[in-house]
Amino acid sequence: MIARKSPMEPSTPTLPHIQLPAEQGRRAGASAAPALPGDDFQDSDQQKPRILHLGLDWGTARTVMIASWAGETTPVHNETLPTLVGYAKDGIVENLLPGNPEVLFAQDAVRHRLHLKMAQPVVNGMMGDAKAARLFAEHLRERLPHGDHVQIRAVVGIPCGCDAQAREDFREALDSLVDGCILIPKPFLAAIGARQNPPPADVNYVDPIRNSLLVDLGAGATDVCVIQGCYPSAVEQIHICGGGDALDEHLQAGLQAAYPDIQISPLKLRELKEQSAWAGTPEARPIAELFVRGRLQRVDMTQIMGDSCHRFLEKIAQAMIQLIGSADVETAPELISNILLTGGGSKIRNICRELERLLHSRGIEQAKVRLLGEAVEGYVAVGALKASQQARENQWQLSLK
Ligand SMILES: Nc1ncnc2c1ncn2[C@@H]1O[C@H](COP(=O)(O)OP(=O)(O)OP(=O)(O)O)[C@@H](O)[C@H]1O
Ligand SMILES: [Mg+2]
Repeated sequence: MIARKSPMEPSTPTLPHIQLPAEQGRRAGASAAPALPGDDFQDSDQQKPRILHLGLDWGTARTVMIASWAGETTPVHNETLPTLVGYAKDGIVENLLPGNPEVLFAQDAVRHRLHLKMAQPVVNGMMGDAKAARLFAEHLRERLPHGDHVQIRAVVGIPCGCDAQAREDFREALDSLVDGCILIPKPFLAAIGARQNPPPADVNYVDPIRNSLLVDLGAGATDVCVIQGCYPSAVEQIHICGGGDALDEHLQAGLQAAYPDIQISPLKLRELKEQSAWAGTPEARPIAELFVRGRLQRVDMTQIMGDSCHRFLEKIAQAMIQLIGSADVETAPELISNILLTGGGSKIRNICRELERLLHSRGIEQAKVRLLGEAVEGYVAVGALKASQQARENQWQLSLK
């Protein structure tokens, strides 16, 4: 198991660029970093443990892992995979699933979903099905360079506003994957990931860590966070339970209300949303060809898509207004001119302009919203790897296994 913090822990020293709170420190009573398996090897013939740094964004829909060996910057592993576990259904014909496995993961689970009972390790950004999470973590470990002499140190993105129990759930799920971990809210990691160090010559470049309001729009949740140079406090973070999946559910309900006999799978609905989700007034009316009472019919999605996106953005705007309202008056003007979006949901067309419009209409007239950068699905894991490479020995919560 991974060691828990103690209230008696000394405060944590700062990272070169990232300040972590005291709770990320070493385990209780330890006057020096605890020995890791393999630390006692003196014989030069014996293989010394090799530390693999891992940046992990374990999301509701997809997991991103980027890893590099300690002391090296070139990643040895960089992978994005669906966060899914599928158990073989009882009584399926032999060899229907290649090799007759009991459990399949990620793309394999998607490919064979017809013959599997699916389980979601992560739900609404938080740890969901504990057994599926443990199995998925084991699967991730197998995909990384591993072996007796490899120790995996992971910085892991967690949703905003995680309480002690939610953190504990993450640590437990990570136990079979890592030998040491540090948990950090995802928007903070995204800002570290997008940060350019040294800053570029471009006069328009704004350091996202300096003073920004960062929003990570995921599948299961939307995390909104004030970032002002150091690890965000609890009052600077809002977790909205619901992201792209909730938008899909709302679309489904809207379609069902307008066309009670409509037949559409969740997968098709998501595809449709990703092709045509538009915030505000769309440039062209989105028309979908869908089965209604067994017949293909052209369905005008403008109203339904518009209502769903508007509802979604209203919640995000409200969370932004709450955080802006509690920010220091000195720092608020710069904060509102630096609102940054990332995550898959930030691909909704026109989302920046529409959020700006909503904020302006609520009296926040200087609000400026833009994307954190083009690589919307990668910044959390990149930031997590950077943080892992920079963490000090006594900042790791080490596994006691
Ligand atoms: N073009 C698009 N338009 C609208 N939504 C999109 C688009 N592309 C992806 N999405 C949505 O983004 C969501 C996935 O985002 P992301 O990969 O950031 O989630 P996640 O990190 O797995 O989830 P979470 O952070 O909530 O745990 C899905 O709901 C997906 O449908
Ligand atoms: Mg995410």
